[in-house]
Amino acid sequence: MREQLTIGIVGSGYVGLVTAVCFAELGHRVICVDSDESKIALLRQGIPPIHEEYLPQLLQRHANHAVEFTTDLKGATRQAHALFIAVGTPQSQTGHADMSYVDAVASEVARAITDYKLIVEKSTVPVYTNEWISRIMMRNGVPHELFDVASNPEFLREGTAVMDFLHPDRIVIGVDSGRAAEILQAIYEPLISGSYYKKADAVPGPRMTSEPAPLLETSTKAAEIIKHASNAFLAMKISFINTVSNICEAVGADIEQVAKGIGSDGRIGHKFLKAGIGYGGSCFPKDVAAFRYVAEHLGVDFGLLSEVEKVNAEQKKRFFQKVRSALWTFRGKKLGVLGLAFKGGTDDIRESPAIDLIRMFLHEGCVVSVYDPAAAEKARQVLPASKELSYAKDSYEAAQDADALLVLTDWAEFAELDLDRLSRILRYPVVIDGRNLFDPAVMRKYGFTYLGVGRAAGMHEKDPVFAKLP
Ligand code: UDX
Ligand code: UDX
Repeated sequence: MREQLTIGIVGSGYVGLVTAVCFAELGHRVICVDSDESKIALLRQGIPPIHEEYLPQLLQRHANHAVEFTTDLKGATRQAHALFIAVGTPQSQTGHADMSYVDAVASEVARAITDYKLIVEKSTVPVYTNEWISRIMMRNGVPHELFDVASNPEFLREGTAVMDFLHPDRIVIGVDSGRAAEILQAIYEPLISGSYYKKADAVPGPRMTSEPAPLLETSTKAAEIIKHASNAFLAMKISFINTVSNICEAVGADIEQVAKGIGSDGRIGHKFLKAGIGYGGSCFPKDVAAFRYVAEHLGVDFGLLSEVEKVNAEQKKRFFQKVRSALWTFRGKKLGVLGLAFKGGTDDIRESPAIDLIRMFLHEGCVVSVYDPAAAEKARQVLPASKELSYAKDSYEAAQDADALLVLTDWAEFAELDLDRLSRILRYPVVIDGRNLFDPAVMRKYGFTYLGVGRAAGMHEKDPVFAKLP
């Protein structure tokens, strides 16, 4: 198609920034807008404000060349053919998504439009948002032939967002006009045709020229529902396996064996069947609540989602009780904690179960020494500054002289720890693993009392205290 496309991305958070550098990687000119001046200043220097694989390399490749960073939304609107809205849609107190940032951006865009623009919702939004955006345009006097609104949901996991973007399972474009479809197809052309995968310096991943990314074209409403329903389904899978893990724990079966058994059924699949301390992050908690709210609003009973949320909250409490039953009392006990991020591979602590649990332990009077490979700086901003809480430089420092070591985030490096060294430096060799990173048999061999999730408790025979407990 046509001349080089100019794409405006509004919001340079986890989603907007990754989208921006990846579109540049596909050969487009990108203007990345954010209202946060300090973030824009960092980005202009090529410094990534978040921890994300391949982001530093792509920023280095494209910042200030193919991608320009600015706070000027009006200027970006004037230059761009398509504008992707990727500002936050946080959860409001009643559970519905707070759309005020999207509203504000759409209004400002409307006031700057002088020729045709495609406005694309990239943020996760409730069904009907496209219609609201259209209404805002028209209220601001933009005639209908000067814009289309499309939905292009993202399915990016933090930590692997760049790879997920460039090697997607599917690209969903929700469009209600041929013109909108044509622009979005042109934007994603290198991934759909597979030409991107031929490039020598392409980001590696599972897709290749012979198996390019599939494009799914739907109505805008269907695309909006696809995003909410995908996240709600994945959250449901996690709550399902967590409930099954509680059954396993009660009868002394191993959830890892059970998950392997059920996941081997191709209809179920192995992914998102990892039991743990519950899901967190900026998407699942907020999107499950928002989808439940959407259903309620439309008079559809989706009680299943309330159960998903209930199980998720309970799972954290169960872990807390597990630690209590291993330590008996909390006050003054020293806990070594591995992990702050809501999952491994990211520095994001939004809705992290690890942060909630640390607060609960501090509240009970524990002394906590925590290590996370990437999230300490962000955690410092939300956890109370206290002499009872310290940030260790590595896992071993966190474990030193602790009454128990807790694993709260599934960082791959935790599974590689020197178990011999750990068992020597802990005050008591007790490991309570909220992510099932270790093999109970191996842990027993190294002399640990090991408690995982959905597994029979592994008491070391020399453990005089715990072996007698029920
Ligand atoms: C995104 C989506 O917005 C959310 O709907 C989806 O479910 C998850 O991902 P994320 O990229 O994680 O959110 O949000 P965040 O990191 O908060 O970034 C939003 C950015 O938008 C921030 O940098 C903020 O400064 C910027 N912003 C916000 C604006 O530029 N203008 C505004 O009016 C509001
Ligand atoms: C999610 C979706 O996967 C992505 O498609 C969407 O666009 C944004 O939201 P993300 O929030 O980055 O991505 O994390 P994800 O990898 O999905 O994990 C979410 C939470 O579920 C984490 O707390 C993780 O630890 C937990 N989880 C995940 C489990 O407890 N068990 C699992 O089997 C998988």
